[in-house]
Amino acid sequence: MELYLDTGNLEHIRSGMELGFLDGITTNPSILAKEKKAPMELLKEIDRIVPGKVWYQVTGRTAADMIREAREAASLCKRPVIKFPMSMDSLQALHAISKDGIETNMTLVYTPGQAVLAAKAGAVYISPYLGRIDDVGASGLAFVREVREMYRTLGFETKIIAASIRGTQHVVDAAKLGVDAMTMSYEVFRDLAVHPLTEKGSRQFADDWEALLGESGTI
Ligand code: G3P
Repeated sequence: MELYLDTGNLEHIRSGMELGFLDGITTNPSILAKEKKAPMELLKEIDRIVPGKVWYQVTGRTAADMIREAREAASLCKRPVIKFPMSMDSLQALHAISKDGIETNMTLVYTPGQAVLAAKAGAVYISPYLGRIDDVGASGLAFVREVREMYRTLGFETKIIAASIRGTQHVVDAAKLGVDAMTMSYEVFRDLAVHPLTEKGSRQFADDWEALLGESGTI
């Protein structure tokens, strides 16, 4: 399973990349806007830190604008994944960009019909937004299950990246479903790593060790 941090915060990106096992960084216009920097400059900075994939979402309204923007963003990254927000223009632009040999993602996919079109257009990934689907009283996980079954039946290799992950339970549920990839905020990622009993146990081990070794600290 591929694992990404969904952030444009350079401090969080550095901290995540130091771990060494993450697959890269996903972004979207809202995430980049939070950093209040020129987007293409920020993208270059992110790519300097990240050895893996860097995901950039186009903002153009027409297919021609999206294709131009996608090519520019892709030229700034070692392993770009270009995101398109689901629309007719995006289907056209995504298809053209995938023909260039650049990896693509269709985002804001909320129906099985959209998921079929995205896969047919050549999307390497689609990103269902678990949290936003749950927000409107439906089930993000049920949607992922439906798309996964549909892709299996049709033989599409398009990967499903679970996004809009709001907490650790979303991560566990998506993992049980066997998603191909996940992206989450730095905060959710950090929450996954901790547990009060782990903290308590670590403290106890440290105290016992210190009591044994005393001041010398020699093993
Ligand atoms: O990856 C999608 C994510 O950035 C959206 O998350 O919490 O705004 O629905 P959220």
